[in-house]
Amino acid sequence: MEVDEPRLTNEEIAALARRIDRPIVLVGMMGVGKSSVGKRLAAALGLPFIDADEAIEEAAKMSIPEIFATYGEPNFRDGERRVIARLIDSEGHQPKVIATGGGAFVNEQTRALILDKAIPVWLDSDVETLFERVGRKRNRPLLREGDPREILTRLRDEREPFYAQAPIKVISGPGPHGQTLERVLKGIESWL
Ligand code: S3P
Repeated sequence: MEVDEPRLTNEEIAALARRIDRPIVLVGMMGVGKSSVGKRLAAALGLPFIDADEAIEEAAKMSIPEIFATYGEPNFRDGERRVIARLIDSEGHQPKVIATGGGAFVNEQTRALILDKAIPVWLDSDVETLFERVGRKRNRPLLREGDPREILTRLRDEREPFYAQAPIKVISGPGPHGQTLERVLKGIESWL
């Protein structure tokens, strides 16, 4: 059983919110909880939350599986890069919380932009936890190309050296996302 770590007080969270001067960008594998944790993080800090995958679908007026099927992954990555750049740059890098798709931080230009202009947070889980969680969303064409557990294992191995370039790493364990939120807040607080 995990022991609860001491929680930040409301005053400490408010003080942290005042120090945030640019977007917080969550990176990491599909199923790790970037959207769920991102929404909670945004609510805790009083910031807007944006899901980059949803912004891409809005811009393309197509679902992510449709974009992959129609234009292929390289075109998706290009659109993803442009949408994330727009989200980060908007209104002079205004603070907000952005959840990115699992492959975004692997793209060299997207990664460079996030590292340069945002507060990057890598959420990581073991493959079993990812596997249990990926069933909940339908925007993951890469998992339809074979056995999802094998694909998650391979992608996590391939992507780890890229994710590891984020200065803040938080383990998103199998427990409730509230615990992960506390760790993200503390990770940002000690890095800023
Ligand atoms: C992808 C992850 C998805 C989505 C697309 C590609 C990836 O986002 O962007 O299916 O390459 O890992 P989530 O990480 O939100 O599932």
